[in-house]
Amino acid sequence: MAITASAPGRVNLIGEHTDYTGGLCLPFAIPYTTTVRLTRRDDDRIRLTTTHAPRPWEGRLLDAGPGAVAGWAAYAAGTLWALGEAGFDLPGMDVLIDSTVPIGAGLSSSASLEAAMAVGAVALCGRTLDSSLRRELVEVCRRAETEVVGAPTGGLDQHAVLLAPEGGALLLDFDGAPPRAVPLTWAEDRVVLVIIDTGVTHALVEGDYGSRRAECEAATAALGVRSLRAATLADLGRLQDPVLTRRARHVISENSRVEDAVAALGARDWTALGRTLNASHRSLRDDFEVSCPELDLAVDAALDAGALGARMTGGGFGGSAIALVPAERVDGCRRAVDAAFTRAGLAAPTHLDGTPSGAAAVIADDAASVGPGYSSGSSR
Ligand code: GLA
Repeated sequence: MAITASAPGRVNLIGEHTDYTGGLCLPFAIPYTTTVRLTRRDDDRIRLTTTHAPRPWEGRLLDAGPGAVAGWAAYAAGTLWALGEAGFDLPGMDVLIDSTVPIGAGLSSSASLEAAMAVGAVALCGRTLDSSLRRELVEVCRRAETEVVGAPTGGLDQHAVLLAPEGGALLLDFDGAPPRAVPLTWAEDRVVLVIIDTGVTHALVEGDYGSRRAECEAATAALGVRSLRAATLADLGRLQDPVLTRRARHVISENSRVEDAVAALGARDWTALGRTLNASHRSLRDDFEVSCPELDLAVDAALDAGALGARMTGGGFGGSAIALVPAERVDGCRRAVDAAFTRAGLAAPTHLDGTPSGAAAVIADDAASVGPGYSSGSSR
C-alpha cells in the first residue's frame, strides 16, 4: 500500500508575531508544495529519504522523539513520533520526500513537511481526512515542531497549511474563536500578490524569535492581562520598559490591522489593504525589530515601483517580503527590486508566485490494498 500526500507553503498576509500572544493572523496557502510518497512496510522500520539531503534517516518510531533526531529528519520523523503519541497506530514505512517550498524563506517549508507527513501517514492508517482530523493534525504537527525540532513557534504555520481554504485566506484567532475563511479576490481586479524571497536565511530554533516571545510574555505579565490580545494601546502607558512597550505596541496594533485587512478585503479596497500592509511592515521594522536591511530594501523598492502595499511575511530576520501590485506593474516592480539589490551589492532575490492555493491533501493512493473505511483520494 502506498499513499502520496502534499502540503503547501504559506504566506501570512498580515498578523505577524501575534499567534503566540492570543492574537489574529490571516495566512493563505501558496502554490509550492512538499510531496511525500509513503509505502507501508511489513516491519516496524521507518526509512525517510529526501531529494534535498544525501543520506536517508532510518529508525523506529521510538527513535524519533525529542532530542533523538536532528536536521530535516526531525520535522518528518518527529511528526510520525507525535502521531504515535496521539494514539495513531502507524505501520513501518518507506517515505520519499520532495519539495518545491523554498527552505528558510519564511514560507513554512517546515510546517509543509510536517503536514504532508501527517496527512500521508494517517491515510496509510486508513483514516479519512475530514475537518476534525485536520484540526487534530494541526496539534500533532505543532508538537513535532516544538518538542522534537525544538522551535518555539506559535501554530500559525500548521493551521495555515492544514486548514487554508482553496484560493482564500484563513482568519485565525488564537484567543479561541474558530478559524474563518476570507475570500481573496484581488485577481478579479487585476491585482497580484507577489513574493520576493530575499535569499537571506533565518533560524527560528534559537535566538531572536525566542527572545521576542519572551518579551511579549514579560509585557503580558507586567500589564497583568491574560494575553496581549486583552490589552489596548491605552494600556501601554503602564509599561515602564521602552522595549516591552514597543513589542506590545506592535502586537496590539497588528491585531487591529488584521481586522482592517479583513474589512479592506471585504470592500475590495486594494489601496486600503496596501496601506495596512505598509503599516504592518513599519511596525515589524521599528517596534518589533524583526525585519532586516534586505527585507526593507525589497519593500521600499516595490513601493517605489508602484506596489499598493508591501511587507515582510513570516518570522522575519530574513526570508520573504510580499507586495500587492497592479498586474500591469508587476514586471516593472520585479525589475526595480532586482536593480535595488544589485545597487546594494546583494545577490538577486527570487520572485515567487503568490497565487492563493489549497491546503494539505492526499493526492494519490494505491486503492487496491486500501483497508476498510478508507475513502480514497483527496477528501478536502
Ligand atoms: C514563524 C512562526 C509562526 C509565527 C510567525 C510570525 O513563522 O512559525 O508561529 O509566530 O513566525 O508571525
